[in-house]
Amino acid sequence: MASYLIRGGRHLRGDVTVSGSKNAALGILAAAIICDGPCTIDNVPQVSDTMAMIDIISDIGAICKLEGNRLEIDPRGIQDARVVSERARDIRASYYLLGALLARLSSSDIFLPGGCNFGVRPIDLHLKGFEAMGASCNISHGRIRLDAKQLHGANIFLDKVSVGATINLMIAAAKAPGRTVIENAAREPHIVDVANFLNTMGARIRGAGTDMIRIDGVSSMPGRRSYSIIPDQIEAGTFMIAAAVTRGDVCVHNLIPKHMEPLSAKLKEMGAVVEEGGDFIRVYIPEGRHLSSTNFITMPYPGFPTDLQPQAVVLLCHAEGLSRMQENVWTSRFQYVEDLKLMGANIDVAERTCLITGPAQLTGSLVQARDLRAGAAMVLAGLSAQDETEIYDIFRLERGYENLVEKLTSIGANIRRSDISTLEVERNLK
Ligand code: EPZ
Repeated sequence: MASYLIRGGRHLRGDVTVSGSKNAALGILAAAIICDGPCTIDNVPQVSDTMAMIDIISDIGAICKLEGNRLEIDPRGIQDARVVSERARDIRASYYLLGALLARLSSSDIFLPGGCNFGVRPIDLHLKGFEAMGASCNISHGRIRLDAKQLHGANIFLDKVSVGATINLMIAAAKAPGRTVIENAAREPHIVDVANFLNTMGARIRGAGTDMIRIDGVSSMPGRRSYSIIPDQIEAGTFMIAAAVTRGDVCVHNLIPKHMEPLSAKLKEMGAVVEEGGDFIRVYIPEGRHLSSTNFITMPYPGFPTDLQPQAVVLLCHAEGLSRMQENVWTSRFQYVEDLKLMGANIDVAERTCLITGPAQLTGSLVQARDLRAGAAMVLAGLSAQDETEIYDIFRLERGYENLVEKLTSIGANIRRSDISTLEVERNLK
């Protein structure tokens, strides 16, 4: 059980470069298997979630060659619609293979995706869409199987805005004869990226990034093209917040400023200076200025992203006064607050809202990475706390942050990775 050890109190300064978007990569890797030829995907982040997805699609017959962040994938060897790789249990995004295998083989059979620690994560909207397109669904023995004699276009209205359902249905519809319209579609940047990838490989998708996406099924997607994944909006936001909570001065490179607007606006509102360039954003707090309290509400894009919610709560711990964070996407995504309280944060949680009183002088402690973004929040808390913080279960963090220790060290953080946590050492001594 590896951990990060962080000695806080240093002002982060310098330049850091963001990797490719994990959540775009997971959709694009699944989408690649519906092509009728090989393709090259650049800017694939080497994080455990994407490595797991590459293992899973290799296991069903794709030929994958990863060199650095460049992946060459040839899906023509995929014959088996049944995913048996245990890696498919590790990542929820393996459910994208439901739509991808349905499109390629008219059938798919995967483990039912597990839950996670911030509430139930149903896939009823995905299944409703597949059934509208002519698939039959059978759930038994912890697996889900879809079969379709012939997928066809359909008009689908998503009862809730769902990133996963939007991507999954877009992939399934790309080669389904006829037109599919997805209404009340999610509009996240990674949805646009998956649509752009599919179009590059020969699909005909219009409207991605709006709440209505039209897909005209094509009979063939030749592939044989290259595509580069967009920068990770959530990693970029994590570094922007790191600059603010350490009262540093950091320039975050390789990002798309428009994707960062929900966060940039709030940082400015709180008193930070946010300077935007073509593909970078510089964040710093002027000498003598204190961050002021404010309220956040997480919403589907273009609202404030739920995946920056834990990180923003750490930011609010450093603001003067009473702030509020309202979580509108997940039913319970505040478990990490218990760890922040160990570090001296003053936070009260009431269901989907938490009240933060600041500024709090955080002090180092032994805390857990309870999920990917909660782990990122613990890193931000450790960087801005006095003394040393140890974060265990960092395997969850390494699902979505590439070379995090190297990147933070390059801007002045005192952080190192230990293969064994203090918890384990103490347990072994007993
Ligand atoms: C994606 O999850 C992301 N994961 C999540 O990021 C992110 O928090 C979420 O979108 C919201 O932005 C990936 O892209 C791999 P949803 P997803 O379907 O697709 C409900 C991270 O940290 N819903 O948009 O699973 C659902 O319960 C991860 O990178 C249904 O009711 O999220 C939730 O309340 C954590 N039925 C809401 O919709 C369904 O069939 C949004 O879920 C599907 C979803």
